Amino acid sequence: MANGILPGDKARAVLEKESKYLCAAAAATTPIVWKEALGATVVDVDDNRYIDFTSGILVANVGHSHPKVVKAIQEQAGKFLNAYNSAHQLRADLCERLTALFPSKLNRALLLTTGAEAIESAVKIAKAYTGKNEIISFNGSFHGKTHLTMSIGGIRQTKEGFGPQASNVVHAPFPYVYHSYYRDEAACVDSCLQQLRETMATSSTGSIAAVVMESYLGSGGCVVPPARFVQGVRQLCDQHNIVFIVDEVQAGFGRTGKMFGFEHYGVVPDIVCLAKGLSAGVPTSAVVAGEGLMKALPPGSASSTYGGNPLSCAAALAVLDVIESEGLVQRAEALGQVLAKRLKELEQKYPFLGEGRSIGLVTGLEIVEDPATRVPSPALANAIVNEAIGRGLALISPTGLYGNVIRMMPPLVISEELMNQGLDILDEAMAKVSDDVSKTQAGE
Ligand SMILES: Cc1ncc(COP(=O)(O)O)c(C=O)c1O
Repeated sequence: MANGILPGDKARAVLEKESKYLCAAAAATTPIVWKEALGATVVDVDDNRYIDFTSGILVANVGHSHPKVVKAIQEQAGKFLNAYNSAHQLRADLCERLTALFPSKLNRALLLTTGAEAIESAVKIAKAYTGKNEIISFNGSFHGKTHLTMSIGGIRQTKEGFGPQASNVVHAPFPYVYHSYYRDEAACVDSCLQQLRETMATSSTGSIAAVVMESYLGSGGCVVPPARFVQGVRQLCDQHNIVFIVDEVQAGFGRTGKMFGFEHYGVVPDIVCLAKGLSAGVPTSAVVAGEGLMKALPPGSASSTYGGNPLSCAAALAVLDVIESEGLVQRAEALGQVLAKRLKELEQKYPFLGEGRSIGLVTGLEIVEDPATRVPSPALANAIVNEAIGRGLALISPTGLYGNVIRMMPPLVISEELMNQGLDILDEAMAKVSDDVSKTQAGE
């Protein structure tokens, strides 16, 4: 486990070199300098070990460097690495496997490279299909950092300083019950649906091609919408001939305890965007939609250099095999229940843990100054994360709309014992921070 003095000497050298040559906007936000990772364990360059609660930002659902995925990549690497738009067996196989995971109306796949590229392409499909041009998306959502996707996103930090955003994007409120005016789920959902109807009828031009929605707000702080809200959105899309695009870039491939997040809500989207967990680290994304929608794209308008490359396809096919053979969706559901129970215990123990939300194996710990006022506390959230990392728990920096949400997302292959050890570390870190707060308040 980590020794508490981070970064170590070797890590410091790497961080210093990066600080000289790497674009600062992409700089590391935690002191862990990765050397290797296997399953749910990370080792840094100073040989500190960490229990991984990041999954490399929700990528390693099947665990880091799963032997079957590594083998598939190694075997393919010796054959050929790119074929641009030429047909090959692995691309055909992956499209077949992917579409088989969805209800039958979603029967075509487009293979691309990043999550943002998948969202951009989904929007193009919706515009080409409907002949309309406006997009509705939600406050607090994150869909990527390209110009269009940051504009569709509803997080200020992503777009601040970049001037006028892409036009024809209109935002509506998302049911973030914890920070809502009502603090009541039913009232919050009613209000959000009402405001969405109003947005469509007033600030929109009326030429709405698509509604784009994450199946839970990820970067926005792991905010899980009530099913009634998602069903209401689906209904409005049907009523107004709007394409319903669901962003499953981080929710997909078992993370939420179902293969895809939208399955929790009893709806079927028109277009689904996939990436991250799809191929465990080899950049791969996909858009899955019905034939009618896909056909709206003019020939040649949707390919990209690395889309459907054989390395990605080989990795993704191996990932799908692992998810199936190791029962990872069911595993995420079962372990998710253990996780949720422990979060409730922590809520009772630490008043600054205003809410411990989770869905499957992804959480949002809402760290606040006081549970009554619910004023977000990024400072306490950062202190907890730093304490936990020093004790050997790999976490990402706090995110969420107010920078106060600790997100934890272990690989789905983590053992219950290791996950509990990770949660014990979190508990210790919270106890330490709680102690520090008490001392400060007592003027010590
Ligand atoms: C929900 C969601 N959509 C889209 C993206 C963008 O994916 P990428 O970083 O691969 O472009 C992300 C990345 O974190 C995401 O979480």
